[in-house]
Amino acid sequence: MTMNTDDRALSATTTLQDGDVRVLLLENIHADGRDFLRGKGYSVETRDGALGEAELIEAVQGVHLLGIRSTTYLTEKVLENAPDLLAVGAFCIGTNQIDLPAATERGVPVFNAPYSNTRSVVELAIAEIISLARRLHEKSTAMHAGVWNKSAAGSHEVRGRTLGIVGYGNIGSQLSVIAEALGFKVVFYDIDDKLALGNARRCSTLEELLRTSDVVTLHVDGRPGNAGLFGDEQMRLMKPRALFLNLSRGIAVDPAALREHLESGHIAGAAVDVFPVEPKRQGDPFESELRGVPNVILTPHVGGSTEEAQQDIGRFVASKLRSYAAFGSTSLSVNFPEMNLPADDSRTRLALVHRNAPGVLARINGLLGEHDVNLEAQSLATRGEIGYVVTDVGSPVTADVMAELASLPETVRLRQLS
Ligand SMILES: NC(=O)c1ccc[n+]([C@@H]2O[C@H](COP(=O)([O-])OP(=O)(O)OC[C@H]3O[C@@H](n4cnc5c(N)ncnc54)[C@H](O)[C@@H]3O)[C@@H](O)[C@H]2O)c1
Repeated sequence: MTMNTDDRALSATTTLQDGDVRVLLLENIHADGRDFLRGKGYSVETRDGALGEAELIEAVQGVHLLGIRSTTYLTEKVLENAPDLLAVGAFCIGTNQIDLPAATERGVPVFNAPYSNTRSVVELAIAEIISLARRLHEKSTAMHAGVWNKSAAGSHEVRGRTLGIVGYGNIGSQLSVIAEALGFKVVFYDIDDKLALGNARRCSTLEELLRTSDVVTLHVDGRPGNAGLFGDEQMRLMKPRALFLNLSRGIAVDPAALREHLESGHIAGAAVDVFPVEPKRQGDPFESELRGVPNVILTPHVGGSTEEAQQDIGRFVASKLRSYAAFGSTSLSVNFPEMNLPADDSRTRLALVHRNAPGVLARINGLLGEHDVNLEAQSLATRGEIGYVVTDVGSPVTADVMAELASLPETVRLRQLS
């Protein structure tokens, strides 16, 4: 990390009372997030849409907490021109729209909501497994076309079947519990050592899972090695007439191979929510080899899109922003050293973001000692090139001490919270 003279200007000393905190929430963030922050005395402005770079620079002047979703691009230029910005809330799961290194360099933590929509994905997976097993999609489509085809052929209960979960993380493990309650035998495969929940059984290889499962469902993450994880070779290993679901990452599955195996009847049905290439905007055409294949449920990446998930995201991210603004907590930040600090209004707290270099803590403490500042508690955490030290002191420190701390060569940002 390099710091130039302009960056040094970021070493502002900020002491904010709740009533001074200005928040800007863009892109229709759920009202619960807004209400939570207003309830803390913050002044909150909301706007429905996303903003382009120039408009955003104008809008963030004087803003301390910014909330965006996936369509607002938070570029280095915006961050450079947002001197008052303390923290950013991505009220969504992904943070690709944010220049994270630029935010980190300026001492701005970014928070998101990685778990708020897991239940929504699990419920969709369950609904789709039963729909595929009963061929509901086909039957409903025929009925809309005026065809009455009352037959039990090809329709099955899921009770007693084996569900194979590939990727036993937040979603995979929750699905495991709910599927067992429906009467599934659950097996899973994960590259990490995961604890089996309930009666689920760990498979030692993907092949073992594929050979034993009546339904195979992917819940892996998007690490680069997962591109092309599931193609012709893996599909061949599946049991004849098994079902297949992908609600994880589009790049993990070869759609052309899936189409072949569906058309040959080797795979009896599939539900796909994510695609290697997805339309960028609402209304853009959707192209896929899987269009038009019978007993295939296609959904436009809506696994996690429910009103409940949006509400949870609103509350979750708003509370992270509040914890950072009021108490300096960085728990679950995507780019900052992790520090889970108690919410304690009675303390005076110095929160100093600094370049991760040898001797910073000694310099801070030396300086506080020289000014007879009593240290009651202190925590230091580092992550890559950034360090974060939070010091609880007996009483508020003077503007002179703050100015000296701010002028340490490694200081990026300094706040006094009291
Ligand atoms: N469809 C949607 O709308 C939607 C919504 C939320 C999440 N997702 C996606 O669902 C996936 C799972 O989410 P999560 O929160 O459970 O993630 P997670 O990080 O908690 O779990 C992923 C698991 O997959 C395992 N894994 C990774 N590569 C693997 C491989 N090659 N073989 C076996 N196991 C492997 C990991 O060890 C981890 O346990 C992610 O890709 C996420 O982006 C989709």
